[in-house]
Amino acid sequence: MEIKSADFVTSMADYGDFTGKGLPQIAVAGKSNVGKSTLINKLCRRNKLARTSSTPGKTRLLNVFLLNEEFHLVDLPGYGFAKVDKKEKQRWGQMMQDYFTKADELLHVLCLVDIRHEPTEDDKQMNRFLREMDIPFSVIATKADKISRGARSKYLAPICRALSVQPWEIICFSGEDGTGREDLLNLIDKVLHA
Ligand code: GTP
Ligand code: MG
Repeated sequence: MEIKSADFVTSMADYGDFTGKGLPQIAVAGKSNVGKSTLINKLCRRNKLARTSSTPGKTRLLNVFLLNEEFHLVDLPGYGFAKVDKKEKQRWGQMMQDYFTKADELLHVLCLVDIRHEPTEDDKQMNRFLREMDIPFSVIATKADKISRGARSKYLAPICRALSVQPWEIICFSGEDGTGREDLLNLIDKVLHA
């Protein structure tokens, strides 16, 4: 499949406010600064569709995009941002809980982890949460351009162990050079048209 159109729909703190229900949804989750917004832009070939920043914690709301007038891609606020206080963390937790319990249209979650780092406690918690809720997900290893192709499997091993996935189930992705874009499009196609 190819992305023919991509438009920003809305930002919200409370999923209950979303008026665009009805279309299938795919959500993008991961810790702050892992490359969620960058992945959305690369996927859609639109540099400024989702706001990106080298300062973590840029996306604090649920940002919804309409792709191919067929499905919604939801950019979730990043977790594990060290500089937020306890209250902000609680707010984040409630927002996620609320989203995952209310989003009946959610088909799949793209769980982003940085290929260079072992998954954090927060990554593992998100992984457990999705498994408990029986929400299908795929692990995407971002910033793959930072690691040579030959060295990637070595980096994937700890990710596989921490998140209980097989290496061939992981998509290595780069927002820089487009690595994994085709694989991601194929995954989305499969999720939407299974
Ligand atoms: P929050 O909105 O804070 O949760 O972050 P995010 O996950 O949306 O991250 P974002 O896409 O804003 O990217 C964070 C930083 O990482 C930016 O400086 C990006 O340019 C950089 N980055 C993202 N993806 C890649 C990638 O694939 N390769 C490289 N080299 N840099 C990347
Ligand atoms: Mg973002």
